[in-house]
Amino acid sequence: MVSFTTLVTAVAAAVSTVTASPLEALKRGIQPGTGYHDGYFYSYWTDGRGWVDFNNGPRGSYSVSWSNVNNWVGGKGWNPGPPRRIAYNGTWNNYNQNSYLALYGWTTNPLVEYYIVEAFGTWNPSTGASRLGTIEDDGGIYDIYRTRRVNQPSIIGTATFDQYWSVRRQKRVGGNIDTGKHFNEWRRQGNLQLGQWNYMVMATEGYQSSGSANIEVRSLD
Ligand SMILES: *[C@@H]1O[C@H](CO)[C@@H](O)[C@H](O)[C@H]1NC(C)=O
Repeated sequence: MVSFTTLVTAVAAAVSTVTASPLEALKRGIQPGTGYHDGYFYSYWTDGRGWVDFNNGPRGSYSVSWSNVNNWVGGKGWNPGPPRRIAYNGTWNNYNQNSYLALYGWTTNPLVEYYIVEAFGTWNPSTGASRLGTIEDDGGIYDIYRTRRVNQPSIIGTATFDQYWSVRRQKRVGGNIDTGKHFNEWRRQGNLQLGQWNYMVMATEGYQSSGSANIEVRSLD
């Protein structure tokens, strides 16, 4: 994820390449980074390659289409993002390529990037990781994983940190997620500790792919 330096680099790259998406987004006032829109926090990050058209919509909604990106991720939610029950709905088109639809967030101390994956495209993010347990939430089974990122972009700059994962076996686009249940079960079954709540968003991510999504999230608490 994006550090300030990475962000400046991404924006500079966009300005020097007229076809790059961040410039188009800048023209509409949405630039890579974070902010608040219609009462919700949003985060939008791209490594600057390819084309991303991210638009905040009413309440907790956003629409996005992306084309030939290397990596982008964005969504709407809350900051800070303590445990809460959420509902989301909308559409997500992965064009049979590599993309995630996930409740996504960060904590600090320890620095953790976490995903509750509702659906993925061609790449299962748990590939190669060993399963630490299972969670039942809203009628579905999620498998728990941990992976490690070494010297990668994060909310505090380049760092080494763990990623915690819940991956839903039955992919879906729309439903409720009890995030506190996942956090508790990560700790109980996998000894996966979280730190101070940073942001939590209902995110779409694309990796070396094209796709589109129109997603809305709201709190049930
Ligand atoms: C989500 O559901 C609400 C209520 O039915 C609807 O008004 C809204 O348009 C939906 N949002 C999306 C992104 O589909």
